[in-house]
Amino acid sequence: MKQVQTNGKFSKIGFILATAGSAVGLGNVIRFPYIMGDSGGGAFFVIYLLTILFIGASVMLAEMVVGYKGQAGAVSSLEKLTTGSPGPWRPIGWVISSSSNIIFSYYVILLAWMITYIGLSASGGLAHEPAAADAIFASTRENLPRTLLLSILLIILTFGVVSRGISRGIERLNLILMPMILLIFGGMFIYAATLHGFGEALDFMFKFKWSDITMKVVVSAIGMSFFTLSLGSAIVLAYSASLPKGSNLVQSIGYVVLLDTLIAIVSGIMIFSFVFTYGGSPTAGFGLVFITLGTVFSNLGYLGQLLGVVFFSALFFAGITSAVSMVEPMLKAVHYRFKVSRSKAAIALALPTALLTAIITLSFGGYFGDINLMDIVDYILSNVLLPMGGLAITIFVGWFMDRKVVEDAVDGKLHGFFELWYIIIKYIAPLLIIIVMLSLLGIM
Ligand code: PFF
Repeated sequence: MKQVQTNGKFSKIGFILATAGSAVGLGNVIRFPYIMGDSGGGAFFVIYLLTILFIGASVMLAEMVVGYKGQAGAVSSLEKLTTGSPGPWRPIGWVISSSSNIIFSYYVILLAWMITYIGLSASGGLAHEPAAADAIFASTRENLPRTLLLSILLIILTFGVVSRGISRGIERLNLILMPMILLIFGGMFIYAATLHGFGEALDFMFKFKWSDITMKVVVSAIGMSFFTLSLGSAIVLAYSASLPKGSNLVQSIGYVVLLDTLIAIVSGIMIFSFVFTYGGSPTAGFGLVFITLGTVFSNLGYLGQLLGVVFFSALFFAGITSAVSMVEPMLKAVHYRFKVSRSKAAIALALPTALLTAIITLSFGGYFGDINLMDIVDYILSNVLLPMGGLAITIFVGWFMDRKVVEDAVDGKLHGFFELWYIIIKYIAPLLIIIVMLSLLGIM
């Protein structure tokens, strides 16, 4: 049997930054701030913190335990660690690992648009008013050759970084980009604090509106904690397989959750300060950054050009550190299961990924009528596959792993809370995930 090369392990800071790099992505900037402002403000934030601490962090620890103890991709780790028959866990491992790779196939398209917007900001090509900004965004989406070319370059770049291994590829990229993201958002936040719309932004995001808190909001908070922490797709599992022995899993989670929440809040306050200062209304989704902010930047002359380049670059960096994490689970699963090198696995995976990206890109040119493939794939992934992945992991750790092995991985770091966490993983989280899934699908 050929020996599997480990390709290095993470350092402590490297693991924290890489996992935070996966968590901090377009979701933090594009989705979180608006949903928070729109669904209860400070009250939503309290609910969100509770869900992230009790459910998000708990499921994250479960994924970490499997990777850390399995020391391989999801497929081999699940097979190795189950106390029952490994049979069903093999296909489950493949499905969980593939979901983030599928997300990657449309995430690169968003990153390609981000590059276009860096260029537009630099050249002063953004529109001064919303209608024209809308038209620019439409023409960006419909420019298929450019999107395809940039996407393919990004696919090569991403798989190239990941094929270099953990320490020389993934860790190095995150050690460079994560501080830059923090610096850019931090700097823009300080500038935003001098604007007169800052107070209104704080008000929009933090005003306590208890009456807005409904069951639906609680469900969306749980769903969001999953998406933002990149759970349910074996990313955290795959990264944890490259942790050195003696790592403190619980402490790492603390830092990751802190960084992820901090960036979501800071970027939200910053964006809405611009919006409330220079006009425009808060919206969610791509409209917020590509249209509303694009218009704001274009009306600020040279300062706006600079802010635009810097902002879209930070968003691109946040996206690329997430993108890299999305291809690691499949790559690692193939690497360990078939005992091939990371480079060979990367080539074998990059080709079908590029094909899927090309098909999704074509749907923006009306090749499939009115069908928007990106929305459909995103819907299935976010509402079905990711929750199902999370469900499978919690059931695995709670019911199919030897409790002693689990205790050993956590190594007393939860102190008196181990029992509580174990009950959450065994009963509460699976139940909540099922409820959230049914509710997201409109069945409940
Ligand atoms: N956590 C990333 C974000 O908030 O943008 C996105 C993400 C990565 C979601 C990986 C899901 C996933 F599997």
